[in-house]
Amino acid sequence: MELLKVVLLLLLAAASSHSQSFHFLKCPTPTLQENFNATKYLGTWYEIEKLPAMFERGTCVQAKYSLRPDGTVRVHNSELLANGKINSIEGVATITDPSQPAVLSVSFYRGLPDAPYMVLSTDYSSYSLVYSCSDYLGLFHVDFAWILSRTRELDGATIGQLRNELTAIGVDTDRLSITAQTGCGVMDSG
Ligand SMILES: *[C@@H]1O[C@H](CO)[C@@H](O)[C@H](O)[C@H]1NC(C)=O
Repeated sequence: MELLKVVLLLLLAAASSHSQSFHFLKCPTPTLQENFNATKYLGTWYEIEKLPAMFERGTCVQAKYSLRPDGTVRVHNSELLANGKINSIEGVATITDPSQPAVLSVSFYRGLPDAPYMVLSTDYSSYSLVYSCSDYLGLFHVDFAWILSRTRELDGATIGQLRNELTAIGVDTDRLSITAQTGCGVMDSG
């Protein structure tokens, strides 16, 4: 009884806050990139748009993927903070189910829980659409999405196509926020 009360309170709190990635019901099951090739996906990706919008966040957000000797993928995310400092975090991405190579499990060293990293579509050389979703208690889900590019900008037509893919799985694309990718010189020299 007490547990149920706590759960209900948590649900109410989440629903009434501005937690933009909170939804009732289970995660959608999106279509994944066919024949995903992690080797071709390695290298640097720049964040163009992201869901949900965060209140305080850095600019010039980028992710660098490289192969580790054990075959897993090293994830190095970095961003430029308002105070001019570079904030970075490292993690490891693993394909846990070989029959689903486009679903990676990413874990970061700072005690964050593993998150699924689903590549919905990519051409490896210009764009990538990534979605992450976790179910809680079978009652609600929390999701994240990223539109990534091999360069610090991406053409509007491609962004529109990727937004449509998100809409198709029930994501409200009005809630995507644009990541500033200007004045990033300090990131490239590091
Ligand atoms: C994945 O891509 C790499 C690099 O282009 C290539 O050498 C490899 O053959 C590809 N693997 C498959 C299974 O297509």
